[in-house]
Formats: sequence, C-alpha cells, structure tokens
Amino acid sequence: MPQQLDVQLSFTINGEPVSIKDVSPAMTLLEYLRLSGRSGTKEGCGDGDCGACTVALIGEGADGQPHYQAVNSCLIPLGAVAGRQVLTADGITNGQIPKSPLVKEPVTAADLHPVQAAMVETGGSQCGYCTPGFIMSLFAAYYDGTPDDLSVEGNLCRCTGYIPIRRAAELVADAAPQDRFVEQLTSASLELAALAYTTQNNGHSEQFYRPTQLSEVLDLLQRYPDATLVAGATDLGLEMSWHRQHYPVLISLEAVTELKQICHTDDYVEIGAAVPLSHIETNLHGVFPSLDEMIHWFAARQVRNRATLGGNIGTASPIGDLPPVLLSLDASVKLAGSSGERTLPLADFFTGYRQTQRQPGEVIASVQIPKALVPGTARRLAQAYKIGKRGTDDISIVAAAFAVDVDGDNQILKARLGYGGVAATPARAIAVEDFLLGKPWTADTIQAVKPILQEAFNPLTDLRGSAEYRKRLVVNLFEKFFVEFP
Ligand code: FES
Ligand code: FES
Repeated sequence: MPQQLDVQLSFTINGEPVSIKDVSPAMTLLEYLRLSGRSGTKEGCGDGDCGACTVALIGEGADGQPHYQAVNSCLIPLGAVAGRQVLTADGITNGQIPKSPLVKEPVTAADLHPVQAAMVETGGSQCGYCTPGFIMSLFAAYYDGTPDDLSVEGNLCRCTGYIPIRRAAELVADAAPQDRFVEQLTSASLELAALAYTTQNNGHSEQFYRPTQLSEVLDLLQRYPDATLVAGATDLGLEMSWHRQHYPVLISLEAVTELKQICHTDDYVEIGAAVPLSHIETNLHGVFPSLDEMIHWFAARQVRNRATLGGNIGTASPIGDLPPVLLSLDASVKLAGSSGERTLPLADFFTGYRQTQRQPGEVIASVQIPKALVPGTARRLAQAYKIGKRGTDDISIVAAAFAVDVDGDNQILKARLGYGGVAATPARAIAVEDFLLGKPWTADTIQAVKPILQEAFNPLTDLRGSAEYRKRLVVNLFEKFFVEFP
C-alpha cells in the first residue's frame, strides 16, 4: 500500500486521461460523467435496474484475459474506477475521439461503430434514452463474439420494443472485429494498482483504500474498525447513487489477490469472496447446476460483471439470490481476521436481519461448497427457483433451492432446503430436512412433508407478496422440485 495518501484519482475515459481531485470517492461514475459534460450516458433508475447508464470497463474476464465489460455506471464509485479504462457511447465512433466532451465534433454515418450502425439500420431506437446503454452492452458483447439476448438482458427499452434491438444484435453477431478497440484490449494491463486516496467533502474527510493483499486489508481494519468494505458495489452503490450515506473510510476488496481465486479439491470448491459472479457463471458452469440456474436469474449481465459472492452473503439480505442455493449445498464461510481464519457453516453465519457472525476486523475470505452432501452418494438431486414479478433483473418474492442425496434404493441420505424471502435471514427448513432423513424419495413422502413445510416459516406481507402467498410458495416450490426430479 502507498504510504502517502493520494489526492488524485486517475483513469481514462474514451482514451482520454482524466485526473481529478476534491471529489468524493463515493461519487458514482455516472454522476461524474454527466457533471463533466459527458451526457451521452443516461440516468434512468439510478438503481442498477434499467441499464441506461451502461458503460464498458476493461477488466479481467473469466479466462483471465482483458475484456470489455458492460457495467452500470450508476453503481460504481469513482474510487473503484481509478486506474481503469472507461468507454462510453459517445466515444466509440470510428472517427476521431473528441478532444473535449464539451466540443461537439460532427459524426457522420460512416463514423458509427458497427453496433451503432446496426441499431440505425434496424430502427432500434426511438426516443433514444435507453440507446446509449444498449449500445454499450452490445459493444462489450461485440468484442466477445456474443451479441445476443443475454448481452442486453440488463437494458430496458420502453418505446422501441425489443425486436429491432434483437435484430441489431443479430446483424453484428458474426463479426470478427479488427479495429482500434481490439488493439486497446490487447495492450491493456489488468493490474489494478494499490490505491490510498483522500479528500475533504463538505468538511468531512473521506478515504478510499484499494489494497492488493489480504494482510493489508486486515491492517486497515485494525486502523479503521468502522470502515465500510466494498467489492463490486452493486449493493452499496445503491446507497451511493442516492447519496444516502457518508463513508469516511471505504476499503475496496476487488484487487486483493487472495480473494479472487477459485480452487478445486476432490471434496469441495472454494470461491474467493471477491470473485465476480460472471467468473463463477463461466468457470464453474456445470459443477453445481442449481448455482448455474440461480446465477442465470441473478440481476443482469452488468451487475454480474461486478457483484461478488462475498458481497451477496456479506450484505445478509433475506432476499439475496445466492444464499438459498449455498444453504442447500451445505456451504461454509471462511472469515479472515488478524488472529487467523475461522470457518463456519453458512447456516450459522446469518444471525438476524442483515446481521452476520462477521466481527469487526474480519473479512469474508471465501465460500467453500462441498461437491456432494454425502460423498459417494448414488444420486444428487438439486435445483434452484426464483419467483419474482419479472423473470430477469428483479428481486425475488421467494427464492428456494433444494439438494437431496439418495442412495441406490432411493432412500434419502441427506436433504437441504434453503429459502430466501420467508424470514429475517436466508434460512433452511431444518425440521423438514430432519423429517426426510431415511425416507424414500417418493410422492407419498412429499405429501407427508407438506404440512411441516407449511409451518416452517412465518414470512411477512410486503409490496411484493403476501405472507400467505409466500407460505404457499414454500410448499409448492418443493413439490415442483419433486415433479421435476422424481
Ligand atoms: Fe438505471 Fe443505472 S441508471 S441501471
Ligand atoms: Fe425510448 Fe428505448 S428508445 S426507451
């Protein structure tokens, strides 16, 4: 870590070096872009829900190589942008990059980037408010060879309709780009340097640290026990976007080497707390099918490029998408502190509404997921379900994930039922798990378990669903699981 606190944040926007000082490290990238006159990037929701603010960052892909990654600029604090290359819709034309955002240079049709030209050709834009966001999602996908529905799943359009936008994606799907953006990727460095930044904001001191070693994180936590930890900022970014809180000390975990590893052993997979979900989605595909299923429904591409496993359990939201899956898979959490590491079952980690066992001075280091509930089991049944008002890019009303290991005689050796949205914390239906032990995996067993499951939780009624509806989902989802995996 640098000994001296820096007073400047430096990065590039569309290739242009930017150095700023006297800005809050918690100001969002979107706010900075617009305040600095780069108003081509739009603000819709400010919540990570609409994709209007999408920009591309050069970052490490799941293969360890530099990629353009679509991200929601409304959720990224400026501190996290330091040392990075940012690209926006107003900087990807094939013409000259404007020297200043305030000098509008004419752009002709011939200058358009291929994804912009495709949107023009298919009529993919009407009012145009969502268009810069779609363009940047397609731009990132264009260089990955994946412009498709999934690449724009985090972008909402209220007036054009999606068919012309899908056609635009199809038009550029088979491109093999060879242009300055490919060169920019090839020469990009992925190393995020350690950062220690300070500023005064409205008379308050603000500091942003980005250490690269776990020991430095622990040292910082000794010095600043009340510091706020941040990784992808897809949750904390909501607060920042709406200026709800002041953060005297922020410690970013996204450059910490030890927290970015995925390790396999014969018995389990250990996922570092700062591994982005998009890496898990790719690098662990097929290892835990129920995790694959839930990650597919987890927000959208822009969020998964930033959100981390540690963040999703560390916030301890009762409606976090991944805890039910991890509970069903009997996962454990490893916490690191200055006196060493400790590992505890995830089921014991959540202690109350948004409260966990993590003590001051500790950080979530990793999550361990056993490859089987019972090693050597004859058959593993597992699935995850998310019920929300929208299929994609929404918060769950109830999420459920189940894992059942059965022997060769179809007897249940072990069962885990994880739920979200039914209690103050993500929770297991332990009475049901106990009941199932040793029973045959049959329709009669499912019928017998339903009354117990019906009484397993006392959920709340809120805007998303009534308590009664949630109680029914608790039962019906398990029955659905049996129907799908008889
Ligand atoms: Fe809607 Fe950022 S403004 S996702
Ligand atoms: Fe108007 Fe998409 S073109 S919201």
